[in-house]
Parts: sequence; structure tokens; C-alpha cells
Amino acid sequence: MRNIAIGLLGLALATGAARAEGTLYERLGGEAGVAQITSEYIDAVANDPAVNQSFEKVNLKRLKKMLAEFTCSLTGGGCVYSGDDMKIVHKNLKITEREFNALVEALRVSLDRHGVSQRDKNALLAIFAPMQRDIVEK
Ligand code: HEM
Repeated sequence: MRNIAIGLLGLALATGAARAEGTLYERLGGEAGVAQITSEYIDAVANDPAVNQSFEKVNLKRLKKMLAEFTCSLTGGGCVYSGDDMKIVHKNLKITEREFNALVEALRVSLDRHGVSQRDKNALLAIFAPMQRDIVEK
């Protein structure tokens, strides 16, 4: 009986904790937070002459919107991503590993600026990292 009571208490606490934490999307600041973070790191790479060659002639406003939607769809925000897959989108852009790393670094800086926890930062980076193989052209 005591064990059951302790078990139920544990379950209640765990459920409560999960509810308090919400989704990664919520912890990134929801729609407004993700839009700001996305805008910041895209501006950072698009304004860096060392890594911005593929952003020339790109409609950044549209790109930010698509990327925020993509991020939402992958972090529990409930969006449906309406773009193409990563391989198709980045085909022929000749993106290098250095450029990919620069974008990830810019994302990290932006997440820090928004006070995102280490755990949530790692969770988002772990979602993006494997996409390198579809984005970087060897
Ligand atoms: C994990 C990293 C990345 C993710 C998740 C990502 C995601 C996306 C998404 C969702 C789009 C919009 C797709 C659409 O319009 O349908 C996009 C477009 C684009 N991405 Fe990335 N991307 C990543 C890395 C990079 C890097 C490293 C670069 C270059 C340094 C880059 C350059 C671009 C450009 C130039 C476009 C616009 C293409 C166009 O409109 O023709 N991306 N990306």
C-alpha cells in the first residue's frame, strides 16, 4: 500500500513537472521567441561576408518565416512545415562545413541571448546537427 502511494506520488510529480515544462517550442518562447531567434541568427550569417555567399539574392523575410515554421514543426509547436526537404532546399547552394558551423554558432549565440537553458539548447542543436549531411555539399 505504501509502495503504491509512493508510486502514485512519483507519477503525480512527474506529470506535474512535464506539464510545467511544456514543449521545447514553448521554452524557446513560442511563436514570438522562435521568430526572434531565427531572425537574429539568419541576420548574423547573412551579414557575415565570410559565410554569406549563398544568401545573396535570397528573400530573407521569406526564409526566416519558413525556418521558423520548420523549427516549430520540429519542437512540438504544432506547425506543419510547408517547404521542401533539406536536401532539395539547399541543393546547388554549395554550402560548406564551415558555413554550416557558422550558422550553428550564430544559433547558439542567439539562444544564449534569449536565456535558453543548456538542456534546451542542446535539444535544438541535436535536432539540427544531423541535417548537416543533407545541407553541406561534399
Ligand atoms: C541545420 C541547419 C539548417 C536548417 C535547419 C536550414 C533550414 C532551411 C529552411 C527551412 C529553409 C527554407 C526552405 C524553403 O524555402 O522552402 C532554408 C533555406 C535556405 N537555407 Fe538553410 N538551413 C540550414 C543551414 C543552412 C546553411 C548553413 C546555409 C548557408 C550558409 C543555408 C542557406 C540557406 C539558403 C540560402 C536558403 C534559401 C534558399 C532559397 O530560397 O532558394 N542554410 N534553410
